[in-house]
Amino acid sequence: MRSKLVAGNWKMHGGLAANAALLSALLTEIDTLPCEVVVCPPFPYLAQAQQVLAGSALKLGAQNVSQHPAGAYTGEVSVSMLREFGCRYVLLGHSERRAIYGESDATVAAKFEAVLAEGLVPVLCVGETLADRQAGETEMVVGRQLDAVLARLGVAALGCGIVAYEPVWAIGTGQTATPEQAQLVHAFIRQRVAASDDEVAAKLRILYGGSVKADNAAALFGQPDIDGGLIGGAALVAEDFLAICRATGVSSS
Ligand code: PGA
Repeated sequence: MRSKLVAGNWKMHGGLAANAALLSALLTEIDTLPCEVVVCPPFPYLAQAQQVLAGSALKLGAQNVSQHPAGAYTGEVSVSMLREFGCRYVLLGHSERRAIYGESDATVAAKFEAVLAEGLVPVLCVGETLADRQAGETEMVVGRQLDAVLARLGVAALGCGIVAYEPVWAIGTGQTATPEQAQLVHAFIRQRVAASDDEVAAKLRILYGGSVKADNAAALFGQPDIDGGLIGGAALVAEDFLAICRATGVSSS
């Protein structure tokens, strides 16, 4: 009942020529893929991607945004700017933003509000570090990250977005969470939301991210609470990304 979605997070990779090649390869298959597909290039390439993707089913997202609508915020980009360049989705609170740029739960919640206010879809990234997991604090950390949005905006607002569970220890490491490990946390996230609203929880799409590859994607996407993926490294190689997208059609749950 929840449709699957696969999003590619290009991080700080790309260039005009490489992007053109990657996007045109994705476009050749986009209409045959069994899921919604989103690409999130770096800001300077949004205009290029918007042009290339015009009229296609391949959707555009951004990797970050300011919580402010406009003003003296040197180096920042607002949600309305993203909208002008065709973005439908915005990744928020990616662990690299939290760890390297010090984004707090409160900042991420403020960004979530700003994205919704402009009618775009926030993709809230949550996930524990290896130390958190080893200390048995996965649920505490993920619960806290979710609660920051729930407390500020309420469960209906959360339901207008998407959640991406990305265990920090699995990102870019080749150490994917097992389908069972991921499913446990996805089920926890859904229960946490269900405690406020069953219906919102049942409809909420929860993506898994962290070393998803063509050969492990189907097993992950086959889990009952995994509704697609947020893909980093493998999103930069058309054949790999397409294979991951196709894998959403393998599961029937
Ligand atoms: P990865 O990155 O697929 O390279 O692990 C995922 C992400 O950071 O979104």
